Amino acid sequence: MFPDVRLRRLRKGKIRNLVRETTLSVDALVQPIFVNENIYSPVEIPSMPGIYNIPLSEVANEAKEIANLGIPAVILFGVPAFKDAKGSSSYGEKDIVQEAVRRIKAELGDKLVVITDVCMCEYTNHGHCGIVDLEKKEILNDPTLEVLGKIAVSHAKAGADIVAPSCMMDGMVGAIRQALDLSGFENIPIMSYAAKYHSCFYGPFREAAESGYSFGDRSTYQMDPANSNEALREVTLDVAEGADIIIVKPALPYLDIIYRVKTDYGMPTAAYNVSGEYAMIKAAAANGWLDEKKAIYESLISIKRAGADIIITYFAKDAARMLK
Ligand code: PBG
Repeated sequence: MFPDVRLRRLRKGKIRNLVRETTLSVDALVQPIFVNENIYSPVEIPSMPGIYNIPLSEVANEAKEIANLGIPAVILFGVPAFKDAKGSSSYGEKDIVQEAVRRIKAELGDKLVVITDVCMCEYTNHGHCGIVDLEKKEILNDPTLEVLGKIAVSHAKAGADIVAPSCMMDGMVGAIRQALDLSGFENIPIMSYAAKYHSCFYGPFREAAESGYSFGDRSTYQMDPANSNEALREVTLDVAEGADIIIVKPALPYLDIIYRVKTDYGMPTAAYNVSGEYAMIKAAAANGWLDEKKAIYESLISIKRAGADIIITYFAKDAARMLK
């Protein structure tokens, strides 16, 4: 073999580009937006430099900037003014996410895909992702499904293009599919957070979305980071219930899961490059310990290489500028 085979021959100059196996395109990116009912001007999130909570009055402008960068989609998270135990402000016609969707759609129509996160944690005063038995301190699966259906339908009515349930309740995809279909939204896709791990990397998000919890943690519904076969069981169920796109979350510590999901199912697969993954790169770059742009590119290309078709990332705008 050696010296006949020399792999270095293809690593130089433009030849390197010619044999590149994976490419990163702006078409794969989804930018998250936090829209907050309690503020009148954008407020930077301390643990996520460069990412802002924005008021409703700014949401259309922000969406326009994102669309102008060529990014095809946003995912919306709402921070409501009112929270209660039942998450009542999550499904009203005039609630924060519904209003935000309407404003973005009025401004941009089909120029931007609007995905909405369907969960209760930003809307409940206990901060959990579902209906809770406060005495037993238990998160109740089946009563939550009904609320999820209402949230999804309210988002679709406001004009959302895709709904993305993230609460890890059993049966969430089926319940939402049924609710959407009964309301005439049989053509609205469901992008399911199928394999969502109980991860410390959501920390900065909880600060951003004011969704920290008052008791316990999310380990009774989110997955154990030690498991991988279980992720496939989750995906099997969600596909059977009618999920159109599968999300694996977080991304970088779970590249093996992205790979297995994509390889085994061939479903449109998204990876969520979460808040903590963003914060780590920002913090290291701020200290001069990492080259920020290179770290962003290497992270995103690795997520693609693992098999993700879509990447939800707080770096979407930065990456879009870099790819221009
Ligand atoms: C809501 C939700 C969370 C994230 C997305 N949707 C937080 C959580 O489950 O605690 C995390 C996103 C991120 O960290 O960037 N359930």
